[in-house]
Amino acid sequence: MSEVRKLKMLVVDDDRAVCSSIKLLFQRKNFEVVFAHLPVEALELFENFKPDIVLLDMNFTVDTSGIQGLKLLEKIKSIKPALPVILLTGWATVQLAVEGMKLGAGDFLAKPWENDQLVASVQYLLSKVSHATANIDSDQPVIIGQSTSMLELIALSKHVANTEANILITGESGTGKELIAELIHSNSKRANGPFIKTNLGGINTSLLESELFGHVKGAFTDAFSERVGRFTMSNGGTLFLDEIGELPLENQVKMLRVLQEKKYEVLGSSKTLNLNARLISATNKDLQAMVYQGSFREDLYYRINLIPLHIPPLRDRVEDIPLLVKHFVKNTADVYDIDQPYVDEEAIIYLQRQEYPGNIRQLKNEVERTLILNQGKKDLAERRLYETNVW
Ligand SMILES: Nc1ncnc2c1ncn2[C@@H]1O[C@H](COP(=O)(O)OP(=O)(O)OP(=O)(O)O)[C@@H](O)[C@H]1O
Ligand SMILES: [Mg+2]
Repeated sequence: MSEVRKLKMLVVDDDRAVCSSIKLLFQRKNFEVVFAHLPVEALELFENFKPDIVLLDMNFTVDTSGIQGLKLLEKIKSIKPALPVILLTGWATVQLAVEGMKLGAGDFLAKPWENDQLVASVQYLLSKVSHATANIDSDQPVIIGQSTSMLELIALSKHVANTEANILITGESGTGKELIAELIHSNSKRANGPFIKTNLGGINTSLLESELFGHVKGAFTDAFSERVGRFTMSNGGTLFLDEIGELPLENQVKMLRVLQEKKYEVLGSSKTLNLNARLISATNKDLQAMVYQGSFREDLYYRINLIPLHIPPLRDRVEDIPLLVKHFVKNTADVYDIDQPYVDEEAIIYLQRQEYPGNIRQLKNEVERTLILNQGKKDLAERRLYETNVW
């Protein structure tokens, strides 16, 4: 077997936190990641480090117009036209991203981006350039739980993973819907294919269409270059439609058609393509009530909901809290390279008594924050943590 060399990624962003989080994400996927915080550094690294892919932030704080980012992109593209570049931008500056696509950027992601989406985009763009071996490991998600309801849910998820049936995952915010979707994907026949996530919330109708369907060059006024849509990216894998309850009614009809016929057309193209993806949807909304109110199409509801999976809120499974806390403590300590404190019984009892409207995400954030900020010991858990140092 020939040795696969590490893929090299250059991240250009003046926000160090952004750089570190990207590094953590892609190091786990066997990338070598370097940062440039200024455009000049970027050009230097571009010459010396010879990246396979560049992630480029458009908004340097020194120059919020984005011109610097665009100039840098232009320069990179003039030196190496085929090099994939992904733009990172705020929604406020989507126009800038459109400019960037004209200059040959491969994709753009709005901050805060979703890690899966970023990985999928990197994977896809690298797979298009032949010299790079886009062999990105897909990790099995770690799902912690010992409550009967979670154990049953995990077993059921694995059981249905192997079918091609459309799955709808429901549950409050932060209960782990995305994690269960990943679990299903990684236990399915499509595990070696991509897991493509699309967030259907908060994007306007036409932008959403171009994100899903993609567009050819010249499809509309701003479409100066091609954009690959999520339907195409998910070929051979799983398409995860997150926040499906947010899908505007106008898009619901088109979505239904694609799911029914398993066919779609890229915007501006008359060629019909086959959708070859397993569909998993998720929502924290009561879709049935929305159907009743007329804001969600009944036919679409039945189409996506062949197998419903419901994740109970954390308050209904507080017996999961001890394991979750230990898991998050260990992870946080690893990631931030700090000593792993011991968690005593009283701290656990304290944590079990709290309310978690944000469910597991909230618990996770609280553990992380408590570990990182060992100052400002406001609440009991934090005081216990650091005064007695028994965590
Ligand atoms: N059972 C679990 N074990 C370990 N980590 C978990 C578990 N459930 C959730 N998490 C973590 O909690 C966070 C929230 O999970 P996730 O994003 O899957 O929730 P969600 O239901 O999709 O939330 P939202 O509705 O807000 O999108 C993630 O960081 C996830 O890794
Ligand atoms: Mg989610």
